[in-house]
Amino acid sequence: MSTSTAKDDSRFRVLIPEDRLQARIRELGKQIRADFGDRPITCICVLKGSFIFTADLVRAIGGELETEFLGVSSYQGGTQSTGVVQITKDLSGPIEDKDVIIIEDIIDTGLTMHYLLEMLAVRQPRTLAVCTLLDKPCNREVEMEADYVGFSIPDEFVVGYGLDLAERYRNLPHIAVYTP
Ligand code: IMP
Repeated sequence: MSTSTAKDDSRFRVLIPEDRLQARIRELGKQIRADFGDRPITCICVLKGSFIFTADLVRAIGGELETEFLGVSSYQGGTQSTGVVQITKDLSGPIEDKDVIIIEDIIDTGLTMHYLLEMLAVRQPRTLAVCTLLDKPCNREVEMEADYVGFSIPDEFVVGYGLDLAERYRNLPHIAVYTP
C-alpha cells in the first residue's frame, strides 16, 4: 500500500484533519510569540517526528528565532517506547543563556522528554520550555507537562504529519489512528 491511498485504507482513521491542525498551530505560534515578546527564541526540532510540525510552527511564531535540530530515537522501529533514548544528532551550537523551546511531535510515556529536559538543562539555557503537537496524558510513566500542547489525544497509536510507523506515513497531511 502506498501512503497516497492511506485515506481509503480501513487501518487508518482520521483523528485530526489538516485544517484543524493548521488552525491550532497558528494559535500556538501566536501564543508563543506573545509569551516571549520580541526576544529571540531557539526552537529545537526533535527529529524525526517533529520536522513537519516545526516547519509550520516556526513560521507561525514569526519574529526573531533560530531553529536547531536534535536527532532522537526512542522506538527502534516498534510502536512501544523502549525507554532507551538514543541521540542520533546533537545540536550544532551552545544554548547557554538562550530562550529555548523543545518542539516535539508527541509526548506519550514522557520518558523521551524527561531525558531531553535533563540533557538540555545542564547546558544552562536562560529558559527551557516544551511545545508538543500531541499529548497522550493517560500513558505517562514519568510526570511531564508540556508548556504548550496542540491536542490532547486518547491512548491510540497515531501516524501522519511527521509521525511514523517504522518510518512510514510521515507524509500524511493529517493525524490518523492506525489499527493494524
Ligand atoms: P515517549 O518517550 O513514550 O513519551 O514517546 C515519545 C516518542 O515516541 C515520540 O517522540 C514519538 O516519536 C514516539 N511516539 C509516541 N507515541 C506515538 C504514536 O502514537 N505514533 C508515533 N510515534 C509515537
